[in-house]
Amino acid sequence: MIDTSGTNMLRFPFRPRHGDPLTPRAVSFPDGIGQVELPTGQITWLVSRHEYVRQVLRSPDFSSDFTKPGFPMIRALPQLPDGPPPGMFIRMDGLDHARLRRMLVPEFMIRHIRTLEPLIRETVVGALDAMRAHGAPADLVEWFALPVPSMVICHLLGVPYSDHTFFQERSRVMLAWSTPPQEALAARDEIRDYLDKLVRQRDGGADLISRLAAERVATGEMTADELSGVALLLLVAGHETTSNMIGLSTLALLRNPEQMRRLRAEPESMDDAVEELLRYLSIVRTGLTRAAVADTEIGGQVVKAGEGVIALVSAANHDTAVFAEPGDLDLSRGSHQHMAFGFGVHQCLGQPLARAELRIALTELLTRLPGLALAVDPAEVEYRDALIFGAQRLPVTW
Ligand code: HEM
Repeated sequence: MIDTSGTNMLRFPFRPRHGDPLTPRAVSFPDGIGQVELPTGQITWLVSRHEYVRQVLRSPDFSSDFTKPGFPMIRALPQLPDGPPPGMFIRMDGLDHARLRRMLVPEFMIRHIRTLEPLIRETVVGALDAMRAHGAPADLVEWFALPVPSMVICHLLGVPYSDHTFFQERSRVMLAWSTPPQEALAARDEIRDYLDKLVRQRDGGADLISRLAAERVATGEMTADELSGVALLLLVAGHETTSNMIGLSTLALLRNPEQMRRLRAEPESMDDAVEELLRYLSIVRTGLTRAAVADTEIGGQVVKAGEGVIALVSAANHDTAVFAEPGDLDLSRGSHQHMAFGFGVHQCLGQPLARAELRIALTELLTRLPGLALAVDPAEVEYRDALIFGAQRLPVTW
């Protein structure tokens, strides 16, 4: 537990130097809200209580636009643009956000994702076969956790998977802590330019980029620049997060053999297991950043317009007021109140896809590799020093 009752300003993000990094470090401000100092030197509010995280994420008084005054910058930008980049609706508010999100909602509805399940299963089984053909020990991240979501999002968008090294390397650079801001922006622009070319070459395919080009860009509802931005957001969000979740979920199950055994015996409980893994691991550990655009009270504190707030979903998902013994993995707890996918208008658009991928990947992994085991001591697992938490490598045998 991080002691937040003292007078020294806490530095955020809290990067564990000791202790078990698999689960987020518990943060507890006595009032569920406090102030922290960011690596940029900026002082910002941080809310850790479940109730307050929900309050921030559902309120129109908090903006997702990083160009708004006071927005918490976890990494410095060389220079702030005039507004969010075209198509980057995760960083937009109100009607601008709603206009773009609305065009994508049907693509990610549960009904539509169900039609993709055979493809997801085929991709999962293919990756497991390739890993088995390679032989044990193998790095589960390289052979399974990364290629599965990456292939699926490529198929959905119409991005050639043969280019995966190009965009995987650049998204890793974009998300690594150690990357200087200028290089992170350059990596982002390279993926954007690549997608821009794809957008402009589309000619009536059935993939998402082609359909949006034909149905939205050609009709003037979306610009070609916006479509490239949307494709960039989906490509990066669509594989990094799910990949880290598949890797860490496998590790969490291997470290809790009794829970894994029960899950194998009761495969119908996989949906609940996925929710608990999302809660327990809470991979978006830098929290969700917002700028207050109106004075608001949170837990007796006045947050003024122009001040920044971090909604620490990982802390909310480990709040003892909502989840008993939050540090324990309990696959049967039915943790439906978790906020691993956020909350409110920006709640993860891709969650039905992420859930389907996690459910199918873990089911096939447990069924097809009954002897699955870590090939290293758990203490030797290397974690990724990145904005989204994950395992760097996961050597396994079977
Ligand atoms: C938004 C987490 C998978 C696309 C978000 C947000 C979170 C999140 C916390 C909210 C951001 C905010 O409020 O500022 C995750 C996790 C995933 C996952 C933990 C995997 C386990 C995916 C996938 C896709 C995706 C597979 C797409 C294919 C998006 C998009 C947004 C978003 C487009 C922005 C939504 C908006 O602003 O309206 N995600 N995500 N995510 N996610 Fe995911």
